[in-house]
Amino acid sequence: MKPHPAAQAFPAPAKLNLDLRITGRRPDGYHLLESIFCLIDLCDTVWLLPRTDGQILLHNPAGGIPPEQDLSYRAARLLQQFSGSLQGVEIWLEKRIPSGGGLGGGSSDAATVLLALNHLWQTAVPPEELRRLGLSLGADVPFFLFGQNAFAQGIGEILRPMAVPEQWYVLVRPNAHVATPKIFAHPDLTRNSPPCPDPSFEQLQPFRNDMQAVVLAEYPSVVAAFRLLQHYGAPQMTGSGACLFIACATQNEAEYIRSRLPENLASWCVRGLAKHPLPAILRP
Ligand code: C5P
Repeated sequence: MKPHPAAQAFPAPAKLNLDLRITGRRPDGYHLLESIFCLIDLCDTVWLLPRTDGQILLHNPAGGIPPEQDLSYRAARLLQQFSGSLQGVEIWLEKRIPSGGGLGGGSSDAATVLLALNHLWQTAVPPEELRRLGLSLGADVPFFLFGQNAFAQGIGEILRPMAVPEQWYVLVRPNAHVATPKIFAHPDLTRNSPPCPDPSFEQLQPFRNDMQAVVLAEYPSVVAAFRLLQHYGAPQMTGSGACLFIACATQNEAEYIRSRLPENLASWCVRGLAKHPLPAILRP
């Protein structure tokens, strides 16, 4: 279903976890992480058309789930309830970010809905309240609201800016849908990496992802893609997978590696972003 001609388009970029360590576990079972989050230029487009009657309509929920369960719908409802706004909205999602790949697509769509609707509805919810609302939707949402590359702690809600060098990435999606709760619950998961509370980008190298070993042990298709990528560099997994990437200094290098990959393996050549593209669009 095409967006209404009067709807406005707002970008929702994906993220990569360039480094991800699990440093402990909270009493409620959630894992404590330290991670470098980097925005990339692979973006969904969220189309929004405000309504005056208070209805929230999501026209094309991803993955066949009921619209009310989609994070973008829930983000709109949460902002409406929190702000007491009487307005509603129609939402269309133009998906480019594969879901369930560790790229944060659903969380980014939700963050874009919160930021853009706060602007369109003129609800003026302050940034720290938006981040609190975002965290109740998912651990990655506060990062997308933060709007720049970051070192994250806690379950992803404690954020500080981290400068990431301008890089390109070959991104690959193995044919596997990793169940995040299963990986977090795995008995062999590393949960005791030493914390590094205030690191620089350089101090954390060599980068690693503590979830990678368990995902490789459980999903043969991820191993196959990983081995393939090893011919061209040092592949890494983002989030709880299954997407893998190789960081490259130039676009040419990334394009070259991508050109060598088999056609039946979904792949992208993407660029790191220093800033989220949305705040510049919303500025009056
Ligand atoms: O945040 P998200 O909904 O993606 O988390 C899915 C599941 O992964 C949670 O229900 C929890 O079991 C686990 N999780 C965790 N520690 C985190 C994030 C998620 O244990 N920091």
